[in-house]
Amino acid sequence: MIAPELVTPSASVLVRAGQWLRAGRLVAFPTETVYGLGADATNPEAVAAIFAAKGRPSYNPLIVHCAGADAAARVAVFDERASILAETLWPGPLTLVLPVRPEAGLAPAVTAGLGTVAVRVPAHPTAHGLLLAAGCPVAAPSANRSGGVSPTTPQHVVESLGSAVAMVLAAGRCAVGLESTILGLCGPQAVLLRPGAVTLADLEALIGPVENPENIVAGAHAAPSAPGQLASHYAPHLPVRLNAATVEAEEALLAFGPDAFVRGGRRRLNLSPGGDLHEAAANLYAMLRALDDPGCRAIAVMPIPDHGIGLAINDRLRRAAAPRETETP
Ligand code: TXA
Ligand code: MG
Repeated sequence: MIAPELVTPSASVLVRAGQWLRAGRLVAFPTETVYGLGADATNPEAVAAIFAAKGRPSYNPLIVHCAGADAAARVAVFDERASILAETLWPGPLTLVLPVRPEAGLAPAVTAGLGTVAVRVPAHPTAHGLLLAAGCPVAAPSANRSGGVSPTTPQHVVESLGSAVAMVLAAGRCAVGLESTILGLCGPQAVLLRPGAVTLADLEALIGPVENPENIVAGAHAAPSAPGQLASHYAPHLPVRLNAATVEAEEALLAFGPDAFVRGGRRRLNLSPGGDLHEAAANLYAMLRALDDPGCRAIAVMPIPDHGIGLAINDRLRRAAAPRETETP
């Protein structure tokens, strides 16, 4: 097995990584949210390699990453709401689902044949430099096996994907730590498809009411009506027990805040001893991975306040705790 090349980004490295993308190879790169696994979005073989590396179902479309809003507008049709959001919140952790432009020449698998496309302009300087160097739209899911915990460090990418990825641009921990907010703008009603660091309040302040589907957790097996909303996702190997009021001796504890339980638990980590939700978001995936220890029976998670980015943390934790495909008949 050939280990991927882990490289510190520099101007010359970004030029080379851009050439690799244009040559149809996969490059993992940091964004402010999580690490992505990039391929030229117009190259069907390269896009197929992403689905193969992740073990991702073909009905689950990919986000197209662009260097700027102009490039994104060559891939998707922007209406006034999309233009306002792009101008105010890009670059940043927000993905917009919009009608696709057929003339953009995206590989059909990128959109799973939906007629819509998810576009995002990331803020991380390495992601931005790579997108400029590549000069093409870059399809990039999170750089982990499908259904698993997203990577927030280059080491997570190597652990998840190993030799399936040729090059990893290694730039330390991701600042946000949770995947981008996804907003659907394909009809008159804006719909929140995935909560993230850009909150409902941020969006509503700019474009008015946004629908927040209560039943955002769909069946684990069904092809999702809003793709990506698979019930079981972001899951470690161990079962996850939410809103724990105590911790058993055989469990690992994912604590939050200054009042972490003092007794019990074979292993323990605190998302944010000071109770800061942004710090908790940035730590969530690395701590879920670190506690995913076969010597424990489950990961017990203390309650996380359900406001601001806490809504996104709780969304990911609910999916981590949902019944797994392999456990259902
Ligand atoms: O922060 C992020 O968004 C990261 C970084 C790498 O940019 N990417 C990411 O990609 O989280 P991924 O593939 O792990 O999640 C993308 C989600 C999926 O749940 C997918 O179903 C949804 O976006 N999606 C993509 N295209 C869509 C579309 N046309 N309509 C609805 N949902 C879509
Ligand atoms: Mg993902």
